Amino acid sequence: MNFYVLTLFPEMIEAGTGTSITGRAMKNGIISMEAINIRDYACNKHKHVDDYPYGGGAGMVMQAEPICLACDDIRKRTGKKPRVVYMTPQGKTFNQKIAKDLAKEEDLILLCGHYEGIDERVIDMEVTDCISIGDYVLTGGELAAMVVMDAVSRMVPGVLTNDDSGMDESFENDLLEYPQYTRPEVYRDMKVPDILLSGHHANIERWRREQSILRTAENRPDLLRKAVGSFDKKDRKFMRENGLGDFLEE
Ligand code: ADE
Repeated sequence: MNFYVLTLFPEMIEAGTGTSITGRAMKNGIISMEAINIRDYACNKHKHVDDYPYGGGAGMVMQAEPICLACDDIRKRTGKKPRVVYMTPQGKTFNQKIAKDLAKEEDLILLCGHYEGIDERVIDMEVTDCISIGDYVLTGGELAAMVVMDAVSRMVPGVLTNDDSGMDESFENDLLEYPQYTRPEVYRDMKVPDILLSGHHANIERWRREQSILRTAENRPDLLRKAVGSFDKKDRKFMRENGLGDFLEE
């Protein structure tokens, strides 16, 4: 997977990538990332990339030309036509399903906006996907692009090794992950649940599933409502015994 990040702050993207699991994947050549400065494609001597909005109003709008030229350049260099993902609070809310979908691509262009946004004609001409990372407004799309790259990278085959695990994790089957413990057995008078020390794998698996259900009920009732569709008899009994029967009836 090759990421091309169009930004006015390439150093921010470079500083925020290249460590940990994704750093290892970059060194192994499974993913690559190029931060491209949109200002390098400005056509005026002052290297302006923004201007006042037509119709008036606060702030500045990023102009179409440098962004389109930067996209042209990527297409020319690679000989491909990658999807162009614009990071914007007006986009579809990012989730694990979108991460998996984007991970199927061989190349992705991530476009980071600044100021009051970008000229709508860029969106009409170049952008294939608009993505928001949540219902809040950032000062620019860079942090959002880094979030998307991280989540997408983990879904690219070969990026996670066996040690990194990806099977039991949150959002697989619409349940949040169960609690984890490691040594020591007692920390500040708090003991690891006995069942995890029992060595009884079937009971541990059952306990983890029930903890996942309880945690999802507490923090993400919206997810639990979706998850109950695939619950078996044991899950349903557990739900009823723990005051969660209402989720089954809806
Ligand atoms: N740019 C500014 N805010 C954003 C958000 N919430 N998601 C994606 N890009 C953004």
